[in-house]
Amino acid sequence: HQEQLIDKYLYHMRLSDETLLEVSQRFEKEMEKGLGADTNPTASVKMLPTFVRSTPDGTEDGDFLALDLGGTNFRVLRVKVSDNGLRKVEMENQIYAIPEELMRGSGVQLFDHIAECLANFLDKLQIKDKKLPLGFTFSFPCHQTKLDESILVMWTKGFKCSSVEGRDVVSLLRKSIKKRGDFDIDIVAVVNDTVGTMMTCGYDDHNCEVGLIVGTGTNACYMEEMRHIDLVEGDEGRMCINMEWGAFGDDGVLDDIRTEFDREIDMGSLNPGKQLFEKMISGMYMGELVRLILVKMAKEGLLFGGRLTPDLLTTGHFETRFVSAIEKEKEGLQKAHEILSKLGLEPSHEDCLATLRICQIVSTRSASLCGATLAAVLRRIKDNKGVERLRSTVGVDGSVYKKHPHFARRLHKTVRKLLPDCEIRFIRSEDGSGKGAAMVTAVAYRLAAQHK
Ligand code: BG6
Ligand code: GLC
Repeated sequence: HQEQLIDKYLYHMRLSDETLLEVSQRFEKEMEKGLGADTNPTASVKMLPTFVRSTPDGTEDGDFLALDLGGTNFRVLRVKVSDNGLRKVEMENQIYAIPEELMRGSGVQLFDHIAECLANFLDKLQIKDKKLPLGFTFSFPCHQTKLDESILVMWTKGFKCSSVEGRDVVSLLRKSIKKRGDFDIDIVAVVNDTVGTMMTCGYDDHNCEVGLIVGTGTNACYMEEMRHIDLVEGDEGRMCINMEWGAFGDDGVLDDIRTEFDREIDMGSLNPGKQLFEKMISGMYMGELVRLILVKMAKEGLLFGGRLTPDLLTTGHFETRFVSAIEKEKEGLQKAHEILSKLGLEPSHEDCLATLRICQIVSTRSASLCGATLAAVLRRIKDNKGVERLRSTVGVDGSVYKKHPHFARRLHKTVRKLLPDCEIRFIRSEDGSGKGAAMVTAVAYRLAAQHK
């Protein structure tokens, strides 16, 4: 009974196969639009060229530093890659906190902090006197004209620092390092986390040509034919495109499937009107979507005997990890009871069942929407290759994909349904995107040395 009530209440959040196919087809058009020179200026999906022209081939080699900024954790890493037939990768890394004031403070403060963390890391490893090449995973939309210049288009997710949009993050970081004067490094490449992830996974699986993130934010990259990329000269070979698919729908093309809850999330966000697809999907918003539904239903007397608590009414207090916990087989309902009780509610068994159902609907919608856009990307790769049956690998990272108990399976299912007769392999990136950033750095560094 409870399940039926919720299913009816959230009717607009349960997307049919036809709707998903429709979303997939709309996204294909958006990709086309972003790639075209004339249409790109008005496209919401920006299809940003990355200047990464190949995936790893195993000959990468050297000693590198990497930074990984924009996901749940900020990391500094050292990555040693050896190509002596063993293809060994050694990594050391350290997580550093970024206080919330810094995520929304001044750009200079943010980059000074990053430089300080780097200094601390180099001290700890006693390598402050070495000038190592560095790869920077910077997980935000950037305009690149080469690997070591990356102009921030706009902040997304939880960041909003002043005076960085429209500027080159490499120069900003160099400036902060120079000002300190206690170490020097060679910033060789900036990559998006999707690109870092594709490269990390590509080191082990040479068929990997797509990188997918479903974490704090959501986005994907893939290898596109140069002849289709109007914004970059040349027609030979391929280049990785950072799609920035989180912005899908920013021009209104998803308005028919967005709900009142999606609009509410957007209005309360740091970037209203932007990243509308991301806000229906990613970890930064999933728990909040569930909370908004619980509040509305409680207000209407449909849950918790019509009672509301200050906790339930507070933004962010229903965390995305609760959705994962509640959807766990066996202990989920017990978890629902614990979580709702901690929010000050006295949930009945029916309330717990209803909350579970709400979580399922919100997270299933998220997985199927991701599946719909991913199927469009794979269909495009298939057409590019002109093959009957595509064999391809997608490298994936992000807390939602990795930690939600059913997300990955549901996503794979949608892709297989929308794109039958293909052999798509999904591999999880276990080492984060820093390893991939080091791979990009290795290739660029070797090329630069050859040209000297
Ligand atoms: C990490 C990658 O493993 O996953 C990051 O190293 C990436 O580059 C992150 O941004 C995405 O997941 P989340 O959940 O931390 O946003
Ligand atoms: C946001 C960022 C994008 C990143 C994604 C996943 O969508 O704009 O660059 O790849 O989050 O972290």
